[in-house]
Amino acid sequence: MLQQVTLSIDGAQVEAVRGTSVLDVAVEYGICIPHLCHIPSLSDFGGCRLCVVELIENSRSKVTTSCTLLVQDDMVVRTNTEKIRKLRRNIAELLVAQAPNSRAIQDIAVRCGVSQVRYPFRNESCVLCGRCVRLCTELWSARAIGFVGRGKDRHVDFPFGVRPDVCKQCQACVQHCPMTITPCDGPMEPGEERLCGKCEAQLLIAESAPDSCIWCELGVGFGCARHAS
Ligand code: SF4
Ligand code: SF4
Ligand code: FES
Repeated sequence: MLQQVTLSIDGAQVEAVRGTSVLDVAVEYGICIPHLCHIPSLSDFGGCRLCVVELIENSRSKVTTSCTLLVQDDMVVRTNTEKIRKLRRNIAELLVAQAPNSRAIQDIAVRCGVSQVRYPFRNESCVLCGRCVRLCTELWSARAIGFVGRGKDRHVDFPFGVRPDVCKQCQACVQHCPMTITPCDGPMEPGEERLCGKCEAQLLIAESAPDSCIWCELGVGFGCARHAS
């Protein structure tokens, strides 16, 4: 039998099934926590760190990723404190610097309040979110791709770089990769390293209408409920 727990998220008492993540419960209740590596129903490994929240225990606060934090009775979570917003902005900024040509990452960054990026652009082709690997392994049971290498050489590939027979060529890995949609102005060229104009426009919309969420209109596969700041 499913066990229910009661916890507090941003001051609201919510009920959830034991074993559910705080991120999933927050989204279900319309409390939007930005996230990148999380895909509902798949395992989480806390890779992107965008979903950080504050967990309050014995009057002390601990920052942790909400996708890997399982609900417990009487848990107290804050998703939208100044500390969290600042951390999130910095994480989003680092992601944009890592992959400035990803539309999905630009959009997430804008929603986290990033308008300028202080870090050098690296134009990497993968942010190691692991969405593709977990989809292939857990949804399709194919295990056709995986992480290879360490440190700066870490990337996603087929075993020995050759597509195995177990690959169903379903394209799920490509469809759910945040790197596959370029910004509206197209890929950035060297010397043109900035957030694209569309994102700036979205930032203005978000600033002038803070109660309206534009999350679900941006980027397939990043489904979330309405914004609740
Ligand atoms: S196309 Fe191949 S590697 Fe990609 S998710 Fe499908 S089975 Fe896995
Ligand atoms: S290839 Fe795409 S989906 Fe896979 S880990 Fe890299 S960024 Fe994520
Ligand atoms: S969504 Fe939680 S760490 Fe990426």
